[in-house]
Amino acid sequence: MSPKNQWLDNMNVLGIETSCDEVGVAIYGEPGGLKAHKLYTQIPIHAQYGGVVPELASRDHIQHVLPLIQRTLDDASFSQSDIHGIAYTAGPGLLGSLLVGACVARSLAYAWQMPAVGVHHLEGHLLAPMLETDKPSFPFLALLVSGGHSSLIKVAEFGSYEIIGESIDDAVGEAFDKTARLLGLPYPGGAALAALAEYGNEDCFELPRPMIHHPTLDMSFSGLKTAVVILLQKHPNPSEQERADIAASFQKAAIETLLAKCEKALVATGLKQLVVAGGVSANVYLRQRLQQLDVRCFFPRKEFCTDNGAMIAYAGYERLKRGFQQDLSIDIKARWDLADSTQAQPNLRD
Ligand code: KG4
Ligand code: ZN
Repeated sequence: MSPKNQWLDNMNVLGIETSCDEVGVAIYGEPGGLKAHKLYTQIPIHAQYGGVVPELASRDHIQHVLPLIQRTLDDASFSQSDIHGIAYTAGPGLLGSLLVGACVARSLAYAWQMPAVGVHHLEGHLLAPMLETDKPSFPFLALLVSGGHSSLIKVAEFGSYEIIGESIDDAVGEAFDKTARLLGLPYPGGAALAALAEYGNEDCFELPRPMIHHPTLDMSFSGLKTAVVILLQKHPNPSEQERADIAASFQKAAIETLLAKCEKALVATGLKQLVVAGGVSANVYLRQRLQQLDVRCFFPRKEFCTDNGAMIAYAGYERLKRGFQQDLSIDIKARWDLADSTQAQPNLRD
């Protein structure tokens, strides 16, 4: 057996995600799949400011990343000798936050004498359903909906990602968060808005579904948020019921916008499997409405919809398995096109 095959047959990858306001650590390997995963969230720190404060995020990551790695190893009853490679989020994200994860990952890999690989955060998200028993096969269409992205991606195979549509302004998660804030809900408001919407009448207020008749697969969500601003000007002191009605009407409009674009993308590509990932894929209403489409839908389990280490460990495992490795430089990128991530070699800039 060649050394490469020995590596392939029994390897565990430690994954580290620090792109924004969470530290996620996990171990993925074969045989057995996911061995352990832990998450530390900074939401209580940022909630008081109504959004993520980058400097606070990176300082806090420094304090939590190593203890969380230790706890994850303990959870799997693993020591350093059970790990064969390290994966970390190399971008896109907050520069300081990314640097913490990349520095720790590269330093550990150097000390432990093993390869490390940078992973694109969105590749992690769109492969997260691969951690489930009922998983898609290539090729598939991915709808990636998070706080920073709303994208439709044609996934031909691992590492081959073509963005065929995306939001031209706010991401859908951002629109959920901004609308939640307008309704007086705490940051990040997506899940809280969805909970409030359960008590509301989704047909109470007519809100726009931006760009659904536009011939491209691009989307827009800032106009929808502005429509809520205007609605609240007409109802300056909404009752509890009116707040729920606004939340439900907003949610319906946002999700129907996504549905319209998904349908169009499925027709255009002829693909029969739809992967839905990213923080907004936790939305129950979105999941219910997507079942109406004539395709098989795949979602990550709820805890892997939002940022987590498991998706990075998995994507890193697949990259290392295919021989992707990088030199010792600390390589992160705040902005990074998913289509360029096949090379997995961003430079330290921007
Ligand atoms: O993927 P993620 O954890 O971070 C980014 O990479 O952006 O996504 C976070 C986003 C936030 O905008 C949050 O409000 C939204 O996902 N989100 C939801 C729900 N749960 C999280 N939006 C709508 N409904 C939910 N249940
Ligand atoms: Zn994310």
